[in-house]
Amino acid sequence: MRILAIESSCDEFSISIMDKGKVLSNVISSQIKEHSEFGGVIPELASRLHVENFHWVLLDSLQQSNSQLEDIDYISYTSNPGLIGSLIIGKLVAQTISTYLKKPLLDMNHIEGHIYGANIEQKFQYPVLALVVSGGHTQIQLLKESLSFELIGTTQDDAVGECYDKVARVLGFNYPGGPVIDKLAQNGNDKKYKLPISKNDDSYDFSFSGLKTASLNLINKLNQNNEEIIIEDFCASFQKTAIDTLMIKFEKAIKEFKPNTITVVGGVSANQSIRSIFYKVGEKYNIKKVIIPDLKYCTDNAAMIAELTNEYLVKDKK
Ligand code: KG4
Ligand code: ZN
Repeated sequence: MRILAIESSCDEFSISIMDKGKVLSNVISSQIKEHSEFGGVIPELASRLHVENFHWVLLDSLQQSNSQLEDIDYISYTSNPGLIGSLIIGKLVAQTISTYLKKPLLDMNHIEGHIYGANIEQKFQYPVLALVVSGGHTQIQLLKESLSFELIGTTQDDAVGECYDKVARVLGFNYPGGPVIDKLAQNGNDKKYKLPISKNDDSYDFSFSGLKTASLNLINKLNQNNEEIIIEDFCASFQKTAIDTLMIKFEKAIKEFKPNTITVVGGVSANQSIRSIFYKVGEKYNIKKVIIPDLKYCTDNAAMIAELTNEYLVKDKK
C-alpha cells in the first residue's frame, strides 16, 4: 500500500511517499529564506512559491522512494487548518494526481498529522496525551484509542510559536524567531527578567497574548530607560515562562488522564528546553512512553500526513 501525501498548509511544500508504514521519502521545500525579511509568513507569497516548487518536490520524492507515479495507491493532502491559498495548491496537486491515476484522494487534518508524526519512529501506547505546540496552535489532545482526538485545552488567543516569533521580531531577529530565542536562551539566566504566567487557572486552556505584551512592554521600558537588555538572559527568562505556562497545564492533565504515552509535537517541539523537560516529566510521573519526534518530523512535513493516512487506512476509518 503506497501512499503519496502532500503537506502545504503554510510556508513548506512537502511530499512524502510511504509504503506499509515505512517512510520512503519526505522532501520539503522550505520558504523560510523568502519570508524571513518580512518578519513572518506572507500568505500570497507562500502560495506563489508553492506553485513554483511543487514539481521538483514531486520528482525528488518519487526518485528518492524509487517509485513511479503509477506505483501509488492512495493520494492524501492537508485540507485544514492552514493558509487558504497554500492549502488550495496542495489540494490541486493531489487532486490532479488522483484524477490522472484514478486512485482515491483522502483529506487530512494538519494537527492530527502533527500528532501522528510522533507515531512514525515509535508506536503509541494508548491513552496518549499530546501537547501540540506550533506557530498557529497550542493544544492538549487526548487519544484514548487510535484516531480518537479529544480536545482537552487550547489557546484563547496567540499560539506559543506565534508568541516566540513576535517577541523575537521586536528583539531584532528574523522569522522564525523560535529557534533563535531557543539557541540564545541556552546561555542565559532565566531568573533575570520577571514575566507573568497567564491564565494560571483551573482550566486546561492557555493564553499567550499576555506574555507577548508583557515581553514587549518590558523591552520598551528597558529601552526608554537606556538600560542594556542582556539578550541571552531575556531569551532564557521568556523561554522559561513560556514553557512553564505550557507544562503547568500539561502536568495537571497527566494527573487527571493518566496516559501511557506523552508526546510533544509541532514546530515548537524542536525546542531544546521543552524536549529535555518532557523527558524529566515522563520520569516524574512514570509514563511508559515519552515520544518526542525527530527534528525533521517536528516542523511541517508530509511524512506526518502519510503516517496519519496510513493509520486511517489500516483502521479502515476513511
Ligand atoms: O509546526 P510549524 O512548522 O508550523 C505551523 O504549523 O505553525 O511551527 C512553526 C513554529 C514557528 O513559530 C517557529 O518559531 C517555531 O515553530 N519553532 C520553535 C523552534 N523551532 C521552530 N520555537 C521554539 N524553539 C524552537 N527551537
Ligand atoms: Zn504545523
